[in-house]
Amino acid sequence: MTQTKTGKDPETSSRLEEFFLDEIKDIYWAEKHLVKILPKMRKAASSEQLKSAFGEHLETTKEHVTRLEKVFDILGEKAESKKCDAIAGITKEGESIIEETEKGSATRDVGLIFAGQKVEHYEISTYGGLVQLARTLGHKDISIVLESTLKDEKKADELLTSIAEKHINYEAATEMQEN
Ligand SMILES: [Fe+2]
Ligand SMILES: [Fe+2]
Repeated sequence: MTQTKTGKDPETSSRLEEFFLDEIKDIYWAEKHLVKILPKMRKAASSEQLKSAFGEHLETTKEHVTRLEKVFDILGEKAESKKCDAIAGITKEGESIIEETEKGSATRDVGLIFAGQKVEHYEISTYGGLVQLARTLGHKDISIVLESTLKDEKKADELLTSIAEKHINYEAATEMQEN
């Protein structure tokens, strides 16, 4: 049997390549969707720290879109997106949180942090898997590009945790006592 540089037979290798490309299309849809959603989250947040965290992550997310376009380019493929049902669901949940909570309340901020962290965790697991798969497929250059995004997502997740710990959860508890 002919072996490729990944040590797998060509058929398995091309199926894996196909799967990899499909997952790239999925996260490409997700990142582009997040570029539309993050301004809404920033607008809905009341704490300054949270507003600026969403604002900063919006800029980073735009870079993630550009990086994925670079990945398509390296693969010699057209940049194409495929609807990511997971991100569509999580962001829809975020929008209901905005509808169901009072404007300016710390409770709404807690809900927004929940939604934000669910998004980051989805991205962390997806990029984590993609970095690994890129290495397996011998796409070292792509794995490096994806790894920078993975780092950004981890940072965003940590920032949301620290905002919740330092500011929001305390205020939400006070809000609860006042009611
Ligand atoms: Fe991202
Ligand atoms: Fe993110």
